Amino acid sequence: MKDILSELEDRRDAARLGGGQRRIDAQHGRGKLTARERIELLLDEDSFEEFDMFKAHRCTDFGMEEDRPAGDGVVTGWGTINGRMVYVFSQDFTVFGGSLSETHAEKICKIMDMAVQNGAPVIGINDSGGARIQEGVASLAGYAEVFQRNIMASGVVPQISVIMGPCAGGAVYSPAMTDFIFMVKDTSYMFVTGPDVVKTVTNEVVTAEELGGASTHTKKSSVADGAFENDVEALAEVRRLVDFLPLNNREKPPVRPFFDEPGRIEDSLDTLIPENPNSPYDMKELITKVADEGDFYEIQEDYAKNIITGFIRLEGQTVGVVANQPMVLAGCLDIDSSRKAARFVRFCDCFEIPILTLVDVPGFLPGTSQEYGGVIKHGAKLLFAYGEATVPKVTVITRKAYGGAYDVMASKHLRGDFNYAWPTAEIAVMGAKGATEIIHRADLGDAEKIAAHTADYEDRFANPFVAAEKGFIDEVIQPRSTRRRVSRAFASLRNKKLENPWKKHDNIPL
Ligand code: HXC
Repeated sequence: MKDILSELEDRRDAARLGGGQRRIDAQHGRGKLTARERIELLLDEDSFEEFDMFKAHRCTDFGMEEDRPAGDGVVTGWGTINGRMVYVFSQDFTVFGGSLSETHAEKICKIMDMAVQNGAPVIGINDSGGARIQEGVASLAGYAEVFQRNIMASGVVPQISVIMGPCAGGAVYSPAMTDFIFMVKDTSYMFVTGPDVVKTVTNEVVTAEELGGASTHTKKSSVADGAFENDVEALAEVRRLVDFLPLNNREKPPVRPFFDEPGRIEDSLDTLIPENPNSPYDMKELITKVADEGDFYEIQEDYAKNIITGFIRLEGQTVGVVANQPMVLAGCLDIDSSRKAARFVRFCDCFEIPILTLVDVPGFLPGTSQEYGGVIKHGAKLLFAYGEATVPKVTVITRKAYGGAYDVMASKHLRGDFNYAWPTAEIAVMGAKGATEIIHRADLGDAEKIAAHTADYEDRFANPFVAAEKGFIDEVIQPRSTRRRVSRAFASLRNKKLENPWKKHDNIPL
């Protein structure tokens, strides 16, 4: 009996070694942690329960039957993050380069099925050379099985991908279908075809880092939602994100203890808006002054900076924030910012996270590059996302809300529940100067008349009161009381029930 028990321990020890000490040392030498070390950092201490530790591949080609390491290059199971359950898979680069075989895929599929059945998020740690070359189509089939589960799990449980090594070929499409992708600077990359193929086909010479490194995907392509310095930081930040999210689409987000007065008055907000309506100010200041303890988890911080997206808490409850950023492109909407915010709004809506929208938007960015790039369709994504969202929506207009962008940014007309404006708000079809030049074109040669018309237009429209008179703004509020107002608004909406008409699914302009 004792021998059998110790045999189990021996087998476990062998499995834990993955591809062996030499390859583990090589992994460390690159500044990367092993699959198991990553799981240890991600989950609460001693909470990990492993599945399929002894599962091995079934391949008999290319002498593979001689080399059947236990676990087959991926560690799978479940554990907890701050006491809340998550499922996890972590690819082991020390075993066949973390490549995906039929059995490796089966292990991932098993925990994805359990995650959906039991209503807990899936966190995938990717570090893989892609399809297991020795297995051919069996490996491609394995990928497709994972893809299908990504699709079915979308909107049911949060799915988070952490890229901590190579992720190439069709393999990138599994992370692409998850809710968030995080990368590690300098040690991870994602691309459909690598630098060699790119050189052959297009003659471009590019490094793996330039083609698909963390900087490329967080700043240029927007494929990734965040980039971190190393494995340790990335995993700590995933833990922080999970704390904001519900476990599944039938649960509310977690409520955390808070140590910040919901009615806190912030006098400094009364002077946040500069005298000159064209001067920028930092919208992040408003976000952190409204949030519990100033804690803001930003998503896509380095992309389309003219809009800000991320999570805060109000009275301990998660709230998604979408805010125009006047510091970048005057906070206008364009293709990139519309896409970024639309995806965020849809994430919040499918996981019952209320949305706070902070508006200072001069309109859509004009120009041929925008029109040729399809700003009409991309802008419509954000409009559509806000309009279909049934979660509580609270909007605060701080300054400009011009034109179509006024409508888009969670206006009353898109079923905004509370639409507040600061006294500094200007809600109009466009700025006074532009409006005057159109409606008083005949007076364009007369500077005095134009100045008078502009002043008149400003008096009549560059304020929140016309909209308030019509009930499009529920209340004009003092900037200093914004936290108290929005906290109370969300508190009053905790039992909100709103349903869209039955449909198979909508046809959002993709
Ligand atoms: C089997 C693989 C492998 C793979 C790496 N290895 N990739 N084994 N299938 N896809 C093995 C290597 O043989 C090596 O084994 C070990 O993993 C580490 O690999 P190295 O090359 O030594 O490491 P490194 O220099 O860091 O390079 C990593 C790499 C490179 C960039 C990932 O290995 C590579 O280019 N691999 C091939 C990538 C690829 O073409 N994959 C298929 C893509 S197509 P030993 O025994 O020496 O330790 C695809 C389609 C998916 O994935 C489609 C889904 C729809």
